[in-house]
Amino acid sequence: MPLKSGVTAPELSTLGERELRERVLSRPLPRHVAIIMDGNGRWATSRGLPRVAGHGEGVKSVRSVVRAAGEVGIEYLTLYAFSSENWNRPSHEVSTLMSLLERSIDRELPELMARSVRFRVIGRPNGVPAEVQRRIDHVVEATAANTGLNLLMAFNYGARDEIVDACRRLARDVAEGRLGPEQIDEVRLGRALYTDGVPDPDLLIRTSGEMRLSNFLLWQIAYTELWVTPTRWPDFEPRDLYLAVADFQQRDRRFGRV
Ligand code: FPP
Repeated sequence: MPLKSGVTAPELSTLGERELRERVLSRPLPRHVAIIMDGNGRWATSRGLPRVAGHGEGVKSVRSVVRAAGEVGIEYLTLYAFSSENWNRPSHEVSTLMSLLERSIDRELPELMARSVRFRVIGRPNGVPAEVQRRIDHVVEATAANTGLNLLMAFNYGARDEIVDACRRLARDVAEGRLGPEQIDEVRLGRALYTDGVPDPDLLIRTSGEMRLSNFLLWQIAYTELWVTPTRWPDFEPRDLYLAVADFQQRDRRFGRV
């Protein structure tokens, strides 16, 4: 029987990683899973560590979740790594996040290639340190022909910025006579977003228990199923991903119908 959204069936919660994985593989998969990776700071401070230690540990969860998503055949995984609002954090934390990112993308390239992961970034390129951008571009190019998991990293990303940028593109097309105002519809607006060509997320996971969307993929998640776990991102494991997917597979998606 379909369950109400937000209630994970007790029989799923008792299963281990392998059993959940088998169960996930026996049903239709979500094509696109998006994750708000929250709770790094709290994970660290609850252990008496500096907040940045939580981000370092969070990178390990990124690695294991990318691997797990690819292994079961999820097509798209979008991770919220750095929001346009995150620039307002203390400068030490911002620079640690930048250098973690810089080091991680270089270090992970062999594994991305071995798993045929295609890496892309969504977000505004301006404002990103030149060296970080250079390394991102390198990994995007190197993985462009890969045919496995599409890994999208939301970096310097804000959904409102994305919608504003899409409106500017369409407004330019109108001003230059390529498009009539009445030709603007959901499909054209969708194509002007950073996620052009990517199916809308079927499932959005948020860790660390907060019940908010934090300016993430606001256009794309109109009919996305939500799954929130109290687990903090550094403690999030493949089993948690499979639990979220197994829960999703029991949902009754109606897209506004009865
Ligand atoms: C939220 O935790 C997490 C972030 C702002 C950044 C996420 C970044 C990583 C997991 C590491 C780098 C990523 C990649 C892809 C290499 P928070 O600091 O807001 O936690 P809090 O809410 O407990 O303070």
